[in-house]
Amino acid sequence: MAERIRRVVYRSKACETPTEDDLWALLDDARARNQAVGLTGVLLYDEGAYLQVLEGRPEAIDRLLASIACDPRHVDMTILGDESDRPRLFGDWSMAFIPWDAETERRMHGLGSFRGLDALAREAGASSKAAARLFRAMVETVRARSAA
Ligand SMILES: Cc1cc2nc3c(=O)[nH]c(=O)nc-3n(C[C@H](O)[C@H](O)[C@H](O)COP(=O)(O)O)c2cc1C
Repeated sequence: MAERIRRVVYRSKACETPTEDDLWALLDDARARNQAVGLTGVLLYDEGAYLQVLEGRPEAIDRLLASIACDPRHVDMTILGDESDRPRLFGDWSMAFIPWDAETERRMHGLGSFRGLDALAREAGASSKAAARLFRAMVETVRARSAA
């Protein structure tokens, strides 16, 4: 039987604008830790805003959310969705990354006329159906960009 996991999506605001090096350091560290505890997901970043999807065993998610909530690199963490007993969507990535650029906007186009990550976050928080559509678009975006 396929594995069932808990999936949480949240948004937050960076305290200081991260450099590209800061983002890579954050991702390198997150990937190593996530791999060790079976967590997967995707991080999106746009102009001081983060949106992250985390999937895995409920206890592992709880532990990581507690650490992330105390992280001084960001504030205003808001949980947009928290689902249980779902199939894993980001199983190929211990933490994928999607920069919010013209290509991402184009790929998300058709799901809504998003201008930036804030609008995407509002849409994701609006309904579970909207969130499911966005997760699918994120998976396709990561897959297309990592194959490029
Ligand atoms: C936006 C953002 C996303 C993060 N994502 C992860 C992640 O996916 N996995 C992870 O282990 N740490 C992530 N971190 C780092 C954690 O907040 C924390 O520094 C790390 O888990 C170590 O926590 P500890 O010192 O409590 O063990 C993230 C931090 C930020 C600011």
